[in-house]
Amino acid sequence: MLVTGNDILIPARAGQYGVGSFNTNNMEITQAIIHTAERLRSPVMVQMSEGAIKYGGQDLANIVIDLAKRATVPVALHLDHGSSYESALKAIKMGFTSVMIDASHHGFEDNVKETKRVVEAAHAMGISVESELGRLGGIEEHIVVDEKDAFLTDPEEAVQFIEQTGTDYLAIAIGTSHGAFKGKGRPYIDHARIEKIASLTGIPLVAHGSSGVPQEIVERFRAAGGQIGEAAGIADEDLQRATQFGIAKVNVDTDLRLASTVGIREALTANPKEFDPRKIFGPARDVMSQVIEHKMRVLGSVGKA
Ligand code: 13P
Repeated sequence: MLVTGNDILIPARAGQYGVGSFNTNNMEITQAIIHTAERLRSPVMVQMSEGAIKYGGQDLANIVIDLAKRATVPVALHLDHGSSYESALKAIKMGFTSVMIDASHHGFEDNVKETKRVVEAAHAMGISVESELGRLGGIEEHIVVDEKDAFLTDPEEAVQFIEQTGTDYLAIAIGTSHGAFKGKGRPYIDHARIEKIASLTGIPLVAHGSSGVPQEIVERFRAAGGQIGEAAGIADEDLQRATQFGIAKVNVDTDLRLASTVGIREALTANPKEFDPRKIFGPARDVMSQVIEHKMRVLGSVGKA
């Protein structure tokens, strides 16, 4: 069933488990996400960035919406990193049931102003809203933030921000970053900061940059001819702890990008004569399903739908 973000995230926050919000760019990714959720009886969020909207448009949104409506578990279609009021409104018109307005690169006052505008419009249409306070490092489509410009979310500011905007869930900067290269060694999550923000606020919290970048997948990528440097992600136990402290929405994009490319590369390498797309994209879908299943088990969302 197609539901709003609140329908999924409020129970997750109360039940101290996390729900994966996986980025999609095509039918196979969408199928892997929603069919794995159904198989594991897990709620799930499917998110499209502005780049995904540019690439797949209403066609892709309709694939997600149709699969979501026919799914036997709750599914929300979410706009990832909406950059403006206009972008959020456009997504709502396209049928999204959850939108993010990311005005975190502005100062506090302007972030509040822009977020509040989106919240008012979205709530009038029954759609829930994510916003962001603090700044993550890393690369996400059009957004590139240097590590030196990244800063972690201040708990007192988070309280003010939630009060002043009415946002439904809040993305906080807790040490994670977007992409496949999350710092050297074991990337760090500031669990004490999550716990503090959660104790002062009560709404679902969101962790961006939550890919685990599984080493097994990275090795298969290399073995199949892919080139990648010292890739690193968030350790499973760190993410699990984060959900127990108040992280309810967990954003994952990089892991599916890697998994689908592994599936495609392995299929092409094993069968150089193959040119049936189903024999190439099908294996990609299978590898993504395995990665999604692992993530859902780590987050504790299995059996919650
Ligand atoms: P990853 O790059 O860790 O998958 O994070 C994706 C994300 O946060 C999208 O908003």
